[in-house]
Amino acid sequence: MSTATNLHQVSRKGAAAATGGQPILTVDHVVKSFETPQGKVTAVDDMSLDVRQGEFVSVIGPSGCGKSTLFNMIGGLLSITEGEIAVAGERVNGPHPSIGMVFQEESTFPWRTVEENVAFPLEIQGVGKAERLERAQHFIKLVGLQGFEKRFPAELSGGMRQRVAIARTLAFQPKLLLMDEPFAALDEQTRLLLGDKVTQIQQELNQTVVLITHNITEAVQLSDRILIMTYRPGRTKRIIDIDLPRPRTSEIVGSDAFGRYVAEIWNDLREEASQGMQDEEALAQQRKRP
Ligand SMILES: Nc1ncnc2c1ncn2[C@@H]1O[C@H](COP(=O)(O)OP(=O)(O)OP(=O)(O)O)[C@@H](O)[C@H]1O
Ligand SMILES: [Mg+2]
Repeated sequence: MSTATNLHQVSRKGAAAATGGQPILTVDHVVKSFETPQGKVTAVDDMSLDVRQGEFVSVIGPSGCGKSTLFNMIGGLLSITEGEIAVAGERVNGPHPSIGMVFQEESTFPWRTVEENVAFPLEIQGVGKAERLERAQHFIKLVGLQGFEKRFPAELSGGMRQRVAIARTLAFQPKLLLMDEPFAALDEQTRLLLGDKVTQIQQELNQTVVLITHNITEAVQLSDRILIMTYRPGRTKRIIDIDLPRPRTSEIVGSDAFGRYVAEIWNDLREEASQGMQDEEALAQQRKRP
């Protein structure tokens, strides 16, 4: 079998498309503006996106382009100015159990052990102790933290703590896993290896994921599709299909095809990021003036 055919046959995009059906996430002509003392700021402008069951989609863009604003609207933490967002066919108008969110900041509970952290959402749902510990164990194993159940977050590395946060979010069994720069505080090697873990879990659970990031390598390593945002107001600049084979590990980072995707995305992002830098410099100059 030729490599090209091989790539095509194991592509997740193909697998996701084959499942057909309704998209899990629909972002339909969404706009978000903020009223500020300096006037109206449009952070997200007319964005639309459909994500199918089992797809891994990353949203990438320069700092300040509106990524977290979009993330918070999808998660129901922020109101929408115009347009509509739906998850599993239900309109989002507040936090929703179909959506599991993982944030950049440390979000483990330091006073709870690993298993108590992971079991927390089940406790909220009223699941009995024996069952929730058993279910927590399943997700702890999934993220590769077996043996650390009784440890406290302070005894773990940053990468392990983020795995606890991911396991806890997965324990909810969300229809959509939404992550905003979850690996930003980690060094590059840990990030790549954690990426392997995330890929493996996503494949095993056929989990639908939307990842917000500004890291191109991470986006290409993990995604079926990448949405590139423009710098302020945040709009869709382009959506790129990542046709790299699955199962996929971080070894792929060294391949020519990977390098071509990175170069292509950087080409798009460079324009947007330099616009952002120019704006910031102009603002700094204005502030300096008496
Ligand atoms: N509550 C708010 N009030 C006013 N403006 C806001 C508010 N939240 C965000 N903004 C503005 O909206 C724009 C987008 O912000 P957002 O945090 O979504 O960017 P981002 O892409 O997540 O950036 P970063 O990569 O730095 O996290 C910025 O110009 C920001 O100043
Ligand atoms: Mg952000």
